[in-house]
Amino acid sequence: MRRLKITVVGAGNVGGSIAQRLAEKNWYDVVLVDIVDGMPQGKALDLAEAGPVCGYDSKMIGANHYDETTGSSVVVITSGIARKPGMSRDALIETNTKIVSSVVKDIVQRSPEAIIIIVANPLDAMTYVAYRASQFPKQRVVGMAGVLDSARFRTFIAEELRVSVDNVQAMVLGGHGDAMVPLIRYTTVAGRPLDEWMSRDRLEALVKRTRQGGAEIVNLLKTGSAYYAPAASAVEMVEAIVRDQKKILPCATLCEGEYGFQGVFMGVPVKLGGSGVEEIIEYQLTPEEDAALKVSGKAVQDLCQKVDQLLK
Ligand code: NAI
Ligand code: 2OP
Repeated sequence: MRRLKITVVGAGNVGGSIAQRLAEKNWYDVVLVDIVDGMPQGKALDLAEAGPVCGYDSKMIGANHYDETTGSSVVVITSGIARKPGMSRDALIETNTKIVSSVVKDIVQRSPEAIIIIVANPLDAMTYVAYRASQFPKQRVVGMAGVLDSARFRTFIAEELRVSVDNVQAMVLGGHGDAMVPLIRYTTVAGRPLDEWMSRDRLEALVKRTRQGGAEIVNLLKTGSAYYAPAASAVEMVEAIVRDQKKILPCATLCEGEYGFQGVFMGVPVKLGGSGVEEIIEYQLTPEEDAALKVSGKAVQDLCQKVDQLLK
């Protein structure tokens, strides 16, 4: 059977981990692209050599150019600088706007039907950059952050209650920044609302930890940011698309009226399937939840205005 081709641009921490997870699915040919001479080739060869041990035949290709990416079904873009302790995601905007916009142009020439998943930060603004640079329909440009932020929230809740993460359902919306909005009313543990499981104080502490989840890892690692959970989250999105799962996941997408946002890329629940973002699911929000989402959306809008200036 012919395998689907998935391209991962940026073969660093997140890109390399995504490539490993994809290889282990034994379902894809994976192309890793990076500007560093020999690095994507070395990682691809290393991953191919793990195949006999792990039981996969996935074809792994590393490259410093885009010819090998031709005909990719999904392209995941992780290329860009990552933050260091004390830096916000927003501080990456100038460098990463240039990188993401040039990479996307190279990709669309060779894979005009691809679905693009953005990982580079600041996430919502970089998804907007990719949308502008690709001129793809909005359904085919989507950003990864809500899956990661929700996974962090689920992890903290499961640890607190000493239950399986499988029992915890959660949805974190908004931009991928400090103002992100964990939707407590829609968070359940084995079907029971979260606020019936813990005190308001503990709940607020877990929300705060989730909002700072990226910085917590940066402060521990000191040399870069998280990559295992981000890679797992991006791969969940790849699989939802290529397997046409129609999974409802929080992803950055272009809102055109939904949740009261017009022309803003931000994290909302979407149905992710073979056509990309097939639908935005609108939850009923309380005035407080809506106000929190507006604060997060305003932060994203400000960053997108910066992008507009940078791309002039
Ligand atoms: P990294 O530094 O390990 O890897 C980035 C790679 O991109 C490097 O290998 C670099 O050579 C490559 N690169 C730079 N310019 C390039 C270009 N023009 N073409 C091809 N490759 C290029 O960084 P890491 O940890 O993998 O993070 C990557 C990005 O993802 C960062 O912007 C980071 O902030 C972001 N990120 C976003 C998350 C999210 O939730 N959306 C989670 C984790 C990271
Ligand atoms: C994170 O949340 C760096 O955005 C990345 O870990």
